[in-house]
Amino acid sequence: MALWSGRFEEGADEFTQRFGASLPVDKKMYAEDVAGSVAHSAMLAARGVISQEDAAAIAAGLGQIKAEIEAGEFPFDVNNEDIHMSIESELTARIGDAGKRLHTGRSRNDQVATDTRLFMKRRAGELMAANLQLREALVAKAQENFDVILPGYTHLQHAQPVLLSHHLLAYTWMLARDFERLAAARKAADANPLGSAALAGTTYPLDRFATTSALGFDHPIPNSLDAVSDRDFLLDLIYACSVSCIHLSRLCEELILWSSSEFGFVTMSDKFSTGSSIMPQKKNSDFAELIRGKSGRVVGELMALLMTLKSLPLAYNKDLQEDKEGAMDAADTLEDCYLCAAGMIATMTVNSDAMMAQAKRGYMAATDVADYLAKKGLPFREAHAVVGHLVLLCDKRGCGLEDLTLQDFQAECPLFEADIVHCLDLPSIVAARTTYGATGHEAVKTQMQEVLAQMEQDRSAL
Ligand code: ARG
Repeated sequence: MALWSGRFEEGADEFTQRFGASLPVDKKMYAEDVAGSVAHSAMLAARGVISQEDAAAIAAGLGQIKAEIEAGEFPFDVNNEDIHMSIESELTARIGDAGKRLHTGRSRNDQVATDTRLFMKRRAGELMAANLQLREALVAKAQENFDVILPGYTHLQHAQPVLLSHHLLAYTWMLARDFERLAAARKAADANPLGSAALAGTTYPLDRFATTSALGFDHPIPNSLDAVSDRDFLLDLIYACSVSCIHLSRLCEELILWSSSEFGFVTMSDKFSTGSSIMPQKKNSDFAELIRGKSGRVVGELMALLMTLKSLPLAYNKDLQEDKEGAMDAADTLEDCYLCAAGMIATMTVNSDAMMAQAKRGYMAATDVADYLAKKGLPFREAHAVVGHLVLLCDKRGCGLEDLTLQDFQAECPLFEADIVHCLDLPSIVAARTTYGATGHEAVKTQMQEVLAQMEQDRSAL
């Protein structure tokens, strides 16, 4: 019989019991449920609502239950709808009346909101730590391959040469913003609903500030109706996970392209590749593809919770039981994706020769040649046209800009002199980009210092 069965004449049948249950999902919040109950009962005792002996028996019983759950020895009963009832009914079976007093001045509505907030606060912090691990892998790869040049693309066409380190560091900035979003989600979760009871507060002299500090929350939620109905913190977390998954899908898309034989820019380690059951030669970047694919599920979870919350009246509605599965999965998925991506980056081999060979194609010096003329006084639009003609000439001859003679250059424009060779050499082209945030070696060194400083600051926020 359920803990609320007093006004019922019939029990739930097996199907409705299973349909209405959330235990398979919310059992993950057992530690938070125990912490919330210990804080609640200690506060009840401090306020004289229950005896100190009862509070001590409750704390001891809950400690034992927690240890048994962790050891996989707890007798979960499928007739209990959720983790809250599972723990409370087992506690009562063990310690009797004291267990029955635990739920004084409390509802599962404020209880589940409390547990979920505690759980997600922790998970957000763990995701922030995993986010830093991926950034560390990207930075290490960038440091190891600092000078490597590859084509930079726009429209997936060769555009201008860039440093691989610059390219990899771009992802660390995306991840730094994701870190901030995760931190914001953690802050959104950091408020205490406990003491709001079912929806309206209670007649007991509860001290909500005491449970707030006992549970490490920042403040008690000021409105009991809002406290039991608000799931914005879950939206914030899934949103943060979604954006970060989208970033990872972009990174992985590049790794998939780069590891194809058309590019050959990187070789994935065997550990992060799989073969084919029919084609013996195959080595697929399955893990990068999986990360790319999983982003779809996480974004779906954001949409799912938004739709669950749409038009939901105050205060608690059972719809809210649907809130945890997607949020937990979004967090688990992102954490795994961070760790997998970090492993892939750390173990992949950079084929700098293949990157350089491609960087030599596609007339990537063209902008610099036009800038050369513009710096000599030719209006940039005219310089652009001159270089356009030179590219056309190369196209016809089947050669690169660096293969043209000085005469070829001068035939298009007399402003060209022998020093044009500096604009045709890829390392010089890259190095010449000295503006803040640019791909030039010096600018990337400065940027690297900023990336490291940002990571240091973020580490201290964990
Ligand atoms: N299992 C429920 C959930 O996850 C707990 C709250 C139930 N409250 C209620 N009034 N039925 O939302």
